[in-house]
Amino acid sequence: MRPADLTRRKQGGLAITMLTAWDALSAAVVAGAGVDAVLVGDSLAMVVLGHATTLPVTLEEMLHHCRAAGRGLAAAAAHHPPLLICDLPFLSYQCGADEAVAAAGRVLKETPAVAVKLEGAEPETLTVIDRMVRSGIPVMGHLGLTPQSVHQLGYRRQAGDPVSQERLRRRALALQEAGCFALVIEHVPAELASELSASLVIPVIGIGAGDGCDGQVRVTADLLGLTSRQPPFSPPLMEGRALAVEVLGRWVREQGPAAAPAPTPATRPASPAAPHC
Ligand code: KIV
Repeated sequence: MRPADLTRRKQGGLAITMLTAWDALSAAVVAGAGVDAVLVGDSLAMVVLGHATTLPVTLEEMLHHCRAAGRGLAAAAAHHPPLLICDLPFLSYQCGADEAVAAAGRVLKETPAVAVKLEGAEPETLTVIDRMVRSGIPVMGHLGLTPQSVHQLGYRRQAGDPVSQERLRRRALALQEAGCFALVIEHVPAELASELSASLVIPVIGIGAGDGCDGQVRVTADLLGLTSRQPPFSPPLMEGRALAVEVLGRWVREQGPAAAPAPTPATRPASPAAPHC
């Protein structure tokens, strides 16, 4: 798969599917499911690194996880690998166009990803996207709920009123004009997402944005029910976490009685005396 193949799918009226992966194992699983695109999303900061937001994850960490995901895809889908896309993390593309192009370039040079994704459509971001695209780096945009702006926007639904809907329309068009090959749109009204899908040439891939988009993306750990907090717009398909705890707990119990309580200091065997100096 190449970025242009997503546009061909849209033109052919075929739905586009994208799932996140964070290592070789998860990438092999989603490739086995037959997705069109695999996103090494910066949601891995929360899902697998245990951070409270996506902000702390570094470019080095994203490169590390993307290389691992790439190895999983190569092993699982050698003939028809899905499109591998890597999120640019917070502050890797906001501190100047040169630094941003260099960060995106590292993704393409040091991992098997063929495209990057970044959030927002501020004038500086549009400049950066233009520079990346003219350097040969395919860019996917991301509007609506943009988790890297959590301290300004929170995690609530975006574009609820006519003014912010008009702003979102303008920003989506600006991303297309800047050269993005596709757009993720997160947690916005379904009618707006569907209207954008119809009006833009590039594919619009939704999450929490209704069924009228050209494609859908989900955080794989959410779909599998592995995360402790599910976003309201991404319900799990199974209770993976509870199931894993149950079957692993059964295995632990099958090994025999639980370990005896740790000895108290009084019963602990005397340790060799510390040497006197
Ligand atoms: O980081 C991520 O997983 C994402 C998806 C929610 C689209 O950006």
